Amino acid sequence: MLVKKVILPVAGLGTRFLPATKSTPKEMLPVVNKPLIQYAVEEASKAGIEEFIFITHHTKTSIKEHFEENSGLYSKLIEDGKKDLAETIKSIGGEGAKFTYVEQAEPKGLGHAIGCAKDCIDENEWFFVILPDDLIMTKELNVTEQMIATAKSESKQVLALQRIDDDEISKYGVISPISTEGKLSKLNSIVEKPDYADAPSNLASIGRYLFNQTIFDHIDYENPGKNGEIQITDAILSDVKNFVGYEFDGMRFDCGSKAGYIKANIEFGLADDELHDELKSFIEEKKNL
Ligand code: UTP
Repeated sequence: MLVKKVILPVAGLGTRFLPATKSTPKEMLPVVNKPLIQYAVEEASKAGIEEFIFITHHTKTSIKEHFEENSGLYSKLIEDGKKDLAETIKSIGGEGAKFTYVEQAEPKGLGHAIGCAKDCIDENEWFFVILPDDLIMTKELNVTEQMIATAKSESKQVLALQRIDDDEISKYGVISPISTEGKLSKLNSIVEKPDYADAPSNLASIGRYLFNQTIFDHIDYENPGKNGEIQITDAILSDVKNFVGYEFDGMRFDCGSKAGYIKANIEFGLADDELHDELKSFIEEKKNL
């Protein structure tokens, strides 16, 4: 099974981050010094992905610009002897990476956004989906790599799962497992944003998916689901027997929420050798407040 393409939906409105997201896409917000969307592209690239398909809106020009060459800035940094900085803006996504942009005119939901890429995926092709606002820190294999390995061993499409606290569960797609062994769950059903009382488990689907092209046959554009949006959860439900859930190794930050975004900056900042000591003493200082 070859997985060479990733879909990156970036056409949402990012309303929880207004006013920052009035003119800056949420996916361009930096964690330390790198925009969220770059973490997503680098994660996919490390897993062997070669084509990056952005589902975008024509107002979000800065995302495209971020992945284009900036030879003027590059030469200037080299001229000024800043070779290390120059390297940071060179060929994001690896040599030969292909960037494709597909317009979603209106944010009608994640299922609709993914459906916009239908013509980019070949018959029976497997592809990955990353929601850039779910940023995941991992030690060895990243989540995309872990899920590709799971799809290969199980020959099924894969959902990334995380155990979620009771008071947060109604924000997620929640699975009802037939069985859970170790990190792997066989699925009986999945329900989008259930009330806590109706949640079938505490295992929620988060922003990583490994699909086969057949998923496009299950997206129902005529009948929107929860909150009037075309939900990818509904498409998954209609083919649920062909999916497994996988509890990944890693620390996830929901950077679509303010608290999650700030926590990501702290954790990624602490992991940066240059920032670690200064941040740590600042946190120690604050502990006493
Ligand atoms: P979210 O629902 O978290 O993003 O979608 P949002 O709608 O932009 O944010 P809020 O809730 O208003 O603050 C997760 C990802 O899916 C994309 C978003 O851009 C984000 O990266 N998305 C969502 C689309 O591309 N199209 C859609 O119709 C919906």
